[in-house]
Amino acid sequence: MSIGISGLTKRFGRTDVLRGIDLGIKKGELVALLGPSGSGKTTLLKIIAGLEWPDAGRLEVDGVDWLQLAAQERRIGFVFQHYALFPHMTVRDNLAFGLTVRPRAERPGKAVIAAKVDELLHFLQIAHLADRYPAQLSGGQRQRVALGRALAIEPKVLLLDEPFGALDAAIRRDLRRWLRGVHDSTGSTTIFVTHDQEEAFELADRVVVMGEGRIEQIGHADAIHDHPATPFVARFMGATVELPVTLQAGRIEAPGLDLSALPRRPLPDGPADLFVRPADILPVPDDASPWRIDSRMSNGANLRLVLSHASGALAEADVPRRAVQADALVAGTAARLRVAAGTVFPATRGAPPAQKTEPKSLKLESVR
Ligand SMILES: Nc1ncnc2c1ncn2[C@@H]1O[C@H](COP(=O)(O)OP(=O)(O)OP(=O)(O)O)[C@@H](O)[C@H]1O
Ligand SMILES: [Mg+2]
Repeated sequence: MSIGISGLTKRFGRTDVLRGIDLGIKKGELVALLGPSGSGKTTLLKIIAGLEWPDAGRLEVDGVDWLQLAAQERRIGFVFQHYALFPHMTVRDNLAFGLTVRPRAERPGKAVIAAKVDELLHFLQIAHLADRYPAQLSGGQRQRVALGRALAIEPKVLLLDEPFGALDAAIRRDLRRWLRGVHDSTGSTTIFVTHDQEEAFELADRVVVMGEGRIEQIGHADAIHDHPATPFVARFMGATVELPVTLQAGRIEAPGLDLSALPRRPLPDGPADLFVRPADILPVPDDASPWRIDSRMSNGANLRLVLSHASGALAEADVPRRAVQADALVAGTAARLRVAAGTVFPATRGAPPAQKTEPKSLKLESVR
C-alpha cells in the first residue's frame, strides 16, 4: 500500500504538535521516523491508524481517503510504544486475538485461525513458546509476540512505535535484523518510530527526521549524516559544536581554526555557523591560538577535551587517547582546532540563540 500524507496538522490545546506534514511512502517501503521526544512521532502514527484525527490535511492510502475510514476499516498492524501482551493469555491466544475479535461476517473459522497462528509461530521462530504466558518470556521474546500479534491480521500497513524501546543494545541489534527479514518477506509497508539513529539507519530504506512537529529532512543514512539539511538535523546527528566563522569566496575562515580540510561552499560571503562533531576536532598546540584547553577527561578509549575561546565560546573535542599528540593536550594549553568535517549554515541573525547543551565534562573536575 502506498501512503500519501499532505499538509497534515494537529494541535492539542495550544500546542501545535504537527505543523504541516508532507510525506509519501511507497508500497513495501520501510521508513523510520526519527526525532527527539515530543516531536510528534506517535501522534503521526496514531493519525495513520485512525486513533487520532488531524485538524487539517490529507491521508490517502492507495488513493483512498483514509480520513473517511474508521480505525477498524483500515487494517493496521500496530505495535505500541508501551505495548502490553494480554497477561492471562498464552502466546498462541495472544496471536489469535486480532482474528477472533473480527466482526462475525469477516471472522475466519476456528481451524483457519489455528492454522494462521501456527504459520506465524513458525515464521517468527517462536513455536516453542506457544503455550507460555507473557510473564514466562524474555523481553525480546515478548517483542516478537507483540509483532506477531500485529502481523496476524495481515495488515495493509504496519506501524511500529519504538517496538524495541526497553531492550538492551545486543538484543535490539538481533531483533532489528530479524524485523528487516520479516518486513521483506511479508512485503508490508512499514513505518518504524525510534529515538535511536543507528537503529533508524540500519533498518530503514529511508529516514524521516522530525523536530517539533515538522519534517526536517527525508533521506538515506549517508546523506543525513554528511549533509544535514538544517541546523536542527546537524545538532541531532551529533554536530553539537557550533563555531562562528566567516565565508569568503566559498572559503570558511576563523582565527584559531584550521579549516583547510573543508571543501569550498557555494554560499554568499558573510558570517556563518559551522556545525562540527567533537570527534572531527583535533586540537593542535599553538601559542598564537585564541583557544585554550580548559579540561581533559578520559572515558578509556577517548579523551574529551573542553576548550574555550578568548570570547567565551566553548568547544568540545573527542581525541583517541592513544593518538600521538594526546599527551601534549593538557589543561591550560593553547591550541588551534583542526576540523576534519563539518556543515556550514549562514548565520541566523536576529533569530533566538540556538539552544546549547552544557558540555558534560564541565561538571567534572578538570584534570590538570
Ligand atoms: N492526547 C494528548 N493531549 C495533549 N497533548 C498531547 C496528547 N498526545 C500528545 N500530546 C503532546 O504532543 C506532543 C507530541 O507527542 P508525541 O507523543 O507525538 O511525541 P513523540 O515524538 O512520540 O515523543 P516520544 O519520543 O517521547 O514518544 C507532546 O508535546 C505531547 O505532550
Ligand atoms: Mg512517542
